[in-house]
Parts: sequence; structure tokens; C-alpha cells
Amino acid sequence: MTTSDRATGDRTGNGAPGGKGPAGPSGGSSFAGDVSVDGANEAAGGAAITAPSGPTPGGTGGGGVHPSSAVGPTVADPVAPGRTPAERLPTGPVMLGSIKRMVTLTVDGDEVRVPEGSTILNALHEEGTPAQADTPTLCWAPNMDPINACRVCVVEVEGSRVLVPSCARKCEDGMEVRTDTEKVRHSRKMVLELLASSADMSQASDDVQRWMGDYGVDAARYGPPAPPSEAGERDRRHAGHHHAPDGAVAANVHQPVKIDNDLYVRDYSRCIMCYKCVNACGTDAQFTFAIAAAGRGFDARIATEYEVELPDSACVYCGNCIGVCPTGALKSVREHDLRSDDDWHPEEETVTTTVCSFCGVGCNLELHVQQGSIVNVTSPADHSVTHGHLCIKGRFGFQHVQNY
Ligand code: SF4
Ligand code: SF4
Ligand code: FES
Repeated sequence: MTTSDRATGDRTGNGAPGGKGPAGPSGGSSFAGDVSVDGANEAAGGAAITAPSGPTPGGTGGGGVHPSSAVGPTVADPVAPGRTPAERLPTGPVMLGSIKRMVTLTVDGDEVRVPEGSTILNALHEEGTPAQADTPTLCWAPNMDPINACRVCVVEVEGSRVLVPSCARKCEDGMEVRTDTEKVRHSRKMVLELLASSADMSQASDDVQRWMGDYGVDAARYGPPAPPSEAGERDRRHAGHHHAPDGAVAANVHQPVKIDNDLYVRDYSRCIMCYKCVNACGTDAQFTFAIAAAGRGFDARIATEYEVELPDSACVYCGNCIGVCPTGALKSVREHDLRSDDDWHPEEETVTTTVCSFCGVGCNLELHVQQGSIVNVTSPADHSVTHGHLCIKGRFGFQHVQNY
């Protein structure tokens, strides 16, 4: 059975859309999910709902016996036993979660108040200026728990010995955050520059390309790139067997693309070791654990168990790793083929949202269409069912709606 067969219905793998789902708001930029109770939580973001009026289940307004019930009185109110069922009904907003305390900090000298538990990046996104909200990120995603790997989002915090990653550091009362100092800008530039010297960033998002320009990234100053590795050569490296480069060329991770199945390719010349794919395959979404980081130092790489090819690994082809990869290292075979044929037209791409037709879960799909043909399928990161993650059928099973 080919991997395409799996996508089109012979087998779904485990493919539970979303799995656990990401931590959602806790790792993201939204405070949705915090609870507002009648204005008691001024920043919580509106998870309060108002109870409907009308007949009261189990309530007679007096004797505690439902008019249509012959089985006796309702359970006594544990809080106020004398209260009638009608009185027990909520008449205002209903609490859906915990109330959060507000913390106050300053960002570049301006006071900001956010719910306790928010990260600095949350605060910059929700309360910051446009420039502050545009803090660069690579390993962060709104639908994932913070990974804290790339350090491109660093800010200065008064009293902290080192720069702190804004995507992971929680806001504290009295914290003084600075986002645009010389130290911050220099650090962000170095992160982006070293990554660009070692990995191919040409297919990273428009935001990443813009940030590299904004921070004056000049990867060429590290010298011409070293020749690419042969297929599998980086996978065979052992920790401690690293040969120091002579400095004449810039070391890099360039290597041939891995194409070992019908659905997606692994182009690790573009991998910046952000770990998003590992976490999407693991505890953030899929719980399949088909991939992990192997090796040490510059030889670190994303690998399957024992470096086996994907069809022999635990991979179930949900494609959730593709959905979070920030550099194009992971992409569908369809996209890879179109790019290779110089037939990739993102400027013409339209995105249509629909509901997956394969099962009854109701996942939202975003169909990316170029020149009348579906080229990719994603799901919105803020969708309450998928949290941006899909199963093999939703992501790859679209051949039946079009003819190639
Ligand atoms: S497609 Fe990616 S996320 Fe899904 S099981 Fe395979 S390696 Fe894991
Ligand atoms: S393959 Fe993509 S998501 Fe995975 S570590 Fe590399 S850059 Fe990150
Ligand atoms: S985005 Fe914050 S450490 Fe990567």
C-alpha cells in the first residue's frame, strides 16, 4: 500500500485531528480562554457566556419536583440547601475557567497589563505597538507550546544577566522589558545570520525574509558555503567525531532532498533545528513520536528512529510537521514537484476554507489553490477542533476533487 493509498482512505494511521491539540492560548498570542465574570476580569478576553432564560430543568419554583418528573425532589443545593431550583439557575455570565490576576510590567517604558501567565511575546502581540508586535520568531507558533530553541525573539529584562526569549518567559509584576536595544538587535541579527549561513532560508516565510532585511543579515560574510554533504553522510556522523572546519568556507547542512514516499519530502538543507516538527509529531499534536533530534552540536539533525526511511518509521503521514516547519524543509511532494518544475506560483494562490468531508469531526480545511489545482491543505491555527493540525486524509486526501 502506498502512502497515497493511506491518504485516500485505505488506512488512516492514527490521524486523530489535533491529537491533544496544542496548548492553544497558553502558547499563543491570544488570551481567549481566560474567563471574564461580570467584568471581574477586565483583560480576560471574554469567555463569559450568559445563561439562557426560560424553563428550569428540574425546577418547579417551589417544591423541588420537576412537573414532568415522578421520581421525586431534585438534589438539594449543596451551597444553600434552602434555595429553590429556580433560584439556583445562573442568571448572568457562567464561569468557564479560572479567573486570572493581572500583572503590570513596562515595555520600552510604557505600562502594560496582561493576565498572569502571559508570556512577554503574548504581551507584545496583544498590548504592544506594531513594532513590538512584530518581534521576530522562528520556533514559536500560535498553536504550539513554546519551544525556546531559536532565540531570535530575545528581549532585555532589567536585572536579568542574559537576554531572555520573549516567547517563553512569563510576565511578572514590575518587570521592565526592553525590545529594541542595541544588544537585542545585535543578538537577533546574529541568530538570523548564522542560521542563514548554515541553512537555505530562501523558502522561509515572507516575515522571515523581511526580518533578515530589517536586521541587516549578511550571511555571505562567513565565506562561500562549503560543498553539500552526500546523501546520508550527515546521518552517519557520530558525536565527538566532528572535524573542525578550516575556516575557508562556511559550514552548512546542505544535502540532497530525502524523497522516500508519495506524500512529503524532507529537504534538510533548509532545516534550522527549530524542533517544531518534533513537537508537532510528539506532545503538541500527534503523539506519534516518529522523529526526534539526533546527533550533537553542528551534526544535530532531525531523524527517524535508526535513520530508517519514512515508510519504515512510525510516521502516519498526518503532515503536522509540514504545517509548522518555518523554512520549507518539510513540504508536500506536490509542492516540491511544482517548485522543481519552476511551476510554483504563490502570487496567484487563493485559499478557500471548507469543512473536511472524510469524517464527522468537522475539521476546517484551507485549500491552497494555484492555477485551478489544489497544491496544499492546511487548517487554521486558531480553529477549535484542529488547532491547525490535521490527519492524513484531511491534509493529503484531496485527489478525488480534482484531476491532475
Ligand atoms: S507526518 Fe510528521 S508529524 Fe505526522 S507522524 Fe509523520 S513525522 Fe510525525
Ligand atoms: S524540519 Fe522544519 S520544523 Fe523540523 S526542525 Fe527543521 S526547520 Fe524546524
Ligand atoms: S521564537 Fe522564541 S526562542 Fe524561538
